[in-house]
Amino acid sequence: MVRGSGILAVAILGLSACSTRTADLADCTTYVAAGFRKIADERAQRFLGKVQEDTAQCRGGDRAVAFRSTPWVDWQNYWAVGDSNSKAAGPSGEHVHLSPNGRGVDGALLDLEYQRIELIKFNLFDNSGTFAQYLRGRDHIDGAALKTWEEMRLPRNNPLYAAVGGNGTQLCRGELIRARMLTGICNDIKNPLMGSTGQMFARNVEFDTTFPESGNNFLVKNRHGDRLGLLKPDPQVISRKLLTRVQSDPAKCNDGRGLAGNSAKANCDYKKAPFLNVLAAFWVQFMTHDWFSHLEEGSNGPELIPMGCETEIEAGVEKLLTPERMKQLNCRPEDRIDKGLIGIETQPSTFTYAGQEYLSRAPKATQNKNTAWWDASQLYGFDEDSRHRVKRDPGDPAKFLLVSSPSGEAYLPLLQSSDPMNPQWAGQESVAFADNWSVGLSFFHNVFAREHNLFVDAFRERAAQTPDADSGLRNPATPSRIIEYKDVTADELFEAARLVVAAEIAKIHTTEWTPQLLYNEPLFLGLNANWHGLLKDFPQAREALEKIVVQNFGPSRDVKEATQWYSVFASGSGIFGLGNHVYADEPIFAAFDPAKEDLWDLSNPDHVNGGINHFGSPFNFPEEFVSVYRLHSMLPDLIELRDLNGDPNVISGKISLLETVRGKATGALRKGGLANWGLSMGRQRLGALTLQNSPLFLQNLSMPRLPGGSGKVDVLALDLVRDRERGIPRFNEFRRQYGLKQLTSFDDFADPHLPKDSAELAEQRRLIGIVRESYGQHRCDAAKVITKAQTNDDGTLINDCLGHTNGSMVDNIEDVDVVIGMLAEFARPHGFAISETQFQVFILNASRRLFSDRFFTSSFRPEFYTQLGYEWVLNNGPEKMIENGLPNGHQIEVMPLKRVLMRTIPELRRELAPVIDAFDPWARDRGEYYSLEWKPRNGAESDEAFTR
Ligand code: HEM
Repeated sequence: MVRGSGILAVAILGLSACSTRTADLADCTTYVAAGFRKIADERAQRFLGKVQEDTAQCRGGDRAVAFRSTPWVDWQNYWAVGDSNSKAAGPSGEHVHLSPNGRGVDGALLDLEYQRIELIKFNLFDNSGTFAQYLRGRDHIDGAALKTWEEMRLPRNNPLYAAVGGNGTQLCRGELIRARMLTGICNDIKNPLMGSTGQMFARNVEFDTTFPESGNNFLVKNRHGDRLGLLKPDPQVISRKLLTRVQSDPAKCNDGRGLAGNSAKANCDYKKAPFLNVLAAFWVQFMTHDWFSHLEEGSNGPELIPMGCETEIEAGVEKLLTPERMKQLNCRPEDRIDKGLIGIETQPSTFTYAGQEYLSRAPKATQNKNTAWWDASQLYGFDEDSRHRVKRDPGDPAKFLLVSSPSGEAYLPLLQSSDPMNPQWAGQESVAFADNWSVGLSFFHNVFAREHNLFVDAFRERAAQTPDADSGLRNPATPSRIIEYKDVTADELFEAARLVVAAEIAKIHTTEWTPQLLYNEPLFLGLNANWHGLLKDFPQAREALEKIVVQNFGPSRDVKEATQWYSVFASGSGIFGLGNHVYADEPIFAAFDPAKEDLWDLSNPDHVNGGINHFGSPFNFPEEFVSVYRLHSMLPDLIELRDLNGDPNVISGKISLLETVRGKATGALRKGGLANWGLSMGRQRLGALTLQNSPLFLQNLSMPRLPGGSGKVDVLALDLVRDRERGIPRFNEFRRQYGLKQLTSFDDFADPHLPKDSAELAEQRRLIGIVRESYGQHRCDAAKVITKAQTNDDGTLINDCLGHTNGSMVDNIEDVDVVIGMLAEFARPHGFAISETQFQVFILNASRRLFSDRFFTSSFRPEFYTQLGYEWVLNNGPEKMIENGLPNGHQIEVMPLKRVLMRTIPELRRELAPVIDAFDPWARDRGEYYSLEWKPRNGAESDEAFTR
């Protein structure tokens, strides 16, 4: 501990100027005297989200202390991190660090920041050949401080090889840096290849923990014995037992197909999340289609593989299913799927560092067939084929082509036979990312095509008014030449509009979708910090972060390390816009100050590129990130149809999602119209991410692209098969790798906060029983060490018995597929639609995709976005709008998706007026402070969704 840290800690808690009950503060003295935690030096010493007893007492009182013995993160038990019941009596809100509520929220933010720092430190594993440099460093530079890599150079066969410098130092310039390039090259101008289409997915876990089925080393063998395989335990059996939605009246659901004529009498039961709507489910699929894809134009390799429905575990022994049992389980042994594409599967080389042997990459690696950047590539394209499907308006090529339907509404045009396409997409709208299409994706693609065009209209209007004025845009090849409005070409405007739309989307996701998905005060503050920074509106958290910096890095003699880690604390100034102003002595963290001279210079590569930070490891998403986005349970089977021109409180019909997939989406969207689809999906709750709550229609999805087999696939079983093909570690090691506590039995999944006699706990125990039945138990052997990622609390090695008596029967918790484990996590922080394991993956990767992107940091400038575009992103549209009241105690701007919907579908303005966050069910009364209650707002009392 560094001397003086106690004083700093006292300062941060304001104990020297106390104004609250002495009894409360007395709880904090021991914790404060100990000072701030040091960032772990070794993987096995990580924070794990568990704090000391006195810290827990100080931040959450007896309740927080009581739950310290559970595996789940402690901050969820602090004061004021839940709804109003979590608040202690006394003051709350900003500037009250001293109060129990202030300590609770500040404490949660500190814990989250520790997690992020350690995730960046311990969880970056690049698969494209740079990993050895990351550990060893290069040219006397620490690995974590490296900023360029040979592996990120454009290869000789790239048509732009010469343009970026060929064999010499590669640097993108001129036309290559003006806008987002189709394939994502030249985002980082010094690492042209990074994040581009076709690069390898990275990993967040140690390479030797991947592909546990292959039993590559003794730890993996000790951990899983011979219990794992691609179809072991059987994926379809797991899907049918642990994922199927149980129906009170199966005839009314009809396996997710509903009733004839979209009758409103149809019903498919599903467990609902009261604080998220169906738009939120399709939004995240819309996002994943921007970030990653493993498939090539919607297809995998030619080889077909079975999908299970062959065996089940009975009394710990794997047994073949009889035909009767298959029928009972309703699974299909004849299902086949195309084998997943693999990019590299040659044996990776090894190297030695600090006396230990390492793999240079994972034993197999797959390619991201999309750009990894948050560049709206699902709309604008990521390779030649996908760009071909993006249709521009011949009347104004700066715009997307939208065609009028018979009802007079404008929609995206349909795919033509001349377009590159997978035959199973016939009849769909023509978009860059066309796979797994449905009415939900069609909705968002149309909304954002309209938004793009509205921006172009606004620009054209300004150009008509002030044709000779400076548009803000510059050509990096001639940086000093002013480009006037009248001289901006259609192509330049199209690309600027793309930048604007991509930034709006990233802002919606960061400040509107995610805070609703993780609906509590620390996450609201933390996510707004990622975007806007804590400097401006949230001074209490900023102070806390600065103290950690001083504690850990201020004294460091290693300047590079200090600089690297300092970037983590960009949450002080916000990641978005980092480095887009340069003042003397403030090259990265400068906040806009009109009184100072801004030295940012388009002709200086270090200014253009200066705000990014990859933390020593080239940016791409890890395989683990794809896995935690397998959120199929969010989808209901039936969409409740409403009519804006009638009574919006009435559900007039129910349509099966099966009737809206692929080509059928076109007719469905046009028949209802965007406004009615917005209303319907905006009011309906999405499916909770929990066991026995996945859509029936996805267990029976027809797959016309696959010959033979049953013609159908169980997409939920496929989620497990794909994760296994890609070597995702199983649940317990996954948690250990990410710096979370392991579980020691399936019983740990139950929510410890529930009263012992509650019906909810009984239901959780029932489901846990099925997890045990599906994955089994084994007799443990304490001589077998199973991991090196963590140790037991007493420092001893973790063994096969997980703390149970040697030779006793223990649960096969090590074998659980991550997707199943995530759904089984019943204990979650307040308002968390996802599990804490999923969240841990997001903390790291959601920050990185902002930190690494030049267009969200130092190149977020009018020179690229135009002045209008720059302001459009900052203001969520043409002008800033402030929301009525103080939602959850904060004054906020009207949120960006709400603004986009009001602009692109003006018919929805009245319905949206009382809505704060477009992903919260639109007719819900948000009540006080992060309420999750399901009750109607004024005017929606007759909405029948509230009677069920
Ligand atoms: C009608 C709606 C949907 C359909 C028909 C659908 C269908 C599918 C299918 C067939 C696959 C497997 C592709 C393969 O590996 O061969 C898949 C993968 C996936 N789906 Fe969905 N899905 C839907 C909605 C969603 C939603 C709402 C999410 C939420 C995030 C989602 C997330 C994913 C992810 C992350 C993958 C893995 C992608 C990859 O491997 O790169 N899907 N989906």
